[in-house]
Amino acid sequence: MPKKLRIGLIGAGGIMRGAHLNPGWFADPDCEVVAVCDNNKDAAAGMADDFNIPSIFEDYRELLEVEEIDAVDIATPNTSHAPMTLAALKAGKHVLCEKPLSTTTASIRSIEEEARKAGRLVMTAQSQRFSPSAVAIKRFVEKQGLGNIYHSRIHAVRRNLMPSSPSMIDQSLSGGGPCMDIGVHALDLGLWLMNFPKPVRATGKLMVNFARDHDMPGGWGEWDRERVTTEDFVSGFIHFEDGATMVLEACWLQHQQESQDLSARLFGRNGSIEWPSGNYASAVNRVLIDSKVLPATGLQKSHSEEILAFAAAIREGKPSPVPPSESLRVIAILEALYESDRLNREVELPLQTGKAKEPAARNEVLANPPRT
Ligand SMILES: NC(=O)c1ccc[n+]([C@@H]2O[C@H](COP(=O)([O-])OP(=O)(O)OC[C@H]3O[C@@H](n4cnc5c(N)ncnc54)[C@H](O)[C@@H]3O)[C@@H](O)[C@H]2O)c1
Repeated sequence: MPKKLRIGLIGAGGIMRGAHLNPGWFADPDCEVVAVCDNNKDAAAGMADDFNIPSIFEDYRELLEVEEIDAVDIATPNTSHAPMTLAALKAGKHVLCEKPLSTTTASIRSIEEEARKAGRLVMTAQSQRFSPSAVAIKRFVEKQGLGNIYHSRIHAVRRNLMPSSPSMIDQSLSGGGPCMDIGVHALDLGLWLMNFPKPVRATGKLMVNFARDHDMPGGWGEWDRERVTTEDFVSGFIHFEDGATMVLEACWLQHQQESQDLSARLFGRNGSIEWPSGNYASAVNRVLIDSKVLPATGLQKSHSEEILAFAAAIREGKPSPVPPSESLRVIAILEALYESDRLNREVELPLQTGKAKEPAARNEVLANPPRT
């Protein structure tokens, strides 16, 4: 019998408990969670108790020293993802890391390089790709095609679902606002459906309209308005090498009827399709056609499917289901939107500065936010 994959968890917070362990790792009988680390010892101890995990660590570097651990699952604040992933690769571990893999393209390039050297697999936990709607739409686009895809529309917009955790609203921990939080989900989905065309130019505008000094009530409770150093709204326009374009909007707070619209719509010469609705529009023989791609059946929860895909790729020596090269395209676009806003003009990709700005340095972007 092949030996079980032994897993170490880093970060015992909301998504780890609610998704990566529900059933997550427990969906795969050939995986065994052997350790959990959190710099909040009580969080690690609570998770160990609740899920029967034998070892607890407060420092992730100590967990990485455990030889028997084959792979780590990282779910900590965004700006810690890259250093932890790099350290895990250096320790010879495979890595599943929550989105975004990193908040800068420079560190994703380092991760790619380190993974190659270590011969280990890195996967970004883009859970939405494993949802029944995304699986079916991807299959439809691949088999049926939309003709030449000339445009896409990416929405990650919420009415008043502002995260309250400091790790999401403090730029030094999050590396960005709704862009890095929910924007990465919809943008990754859209690019994946488009087969990751190469972005060449982008224009972006960031704003803080509500998060600091508006009395919009939080659907998830209050947040520390003094502590918000990220944008709460971004809009962007992106050109790709193949001539296609994309518009992107991401926000946590704005006046709209829908509580949330997380969607990607692709427009092709033969038809358009929208994720996650599956709505398909076309015209044949001068007849307009509306139809719908239904969600794939027989799948587990998306986070469990994502974990099963990661474990299977390691066991079978297959490529990463969500490789760093794809996350690089996602973050390159977001980085370009930030840079475009800072320079107040369109920018070319890859950015001419060559070096990405670290998240803390991006605070200057929002130093003088517009006031209502
Ligand atoms: N895929 C999804 O749908 C989804 C949903 C929510 C969150 N996320 C991502 O997951 C990550 C975590 O989000 P969350 O909502 O679980 O946050 P959280 O605040 O609930 O949990 C994060 C945990 O990490 C711990 N931590 C912080 N720094 C650490 C360190 N240096 N070493 C060890 N532990 C450390 C914290 O103590 C906390 O317990 C974020 O990157 C977020 O973007 C993804």
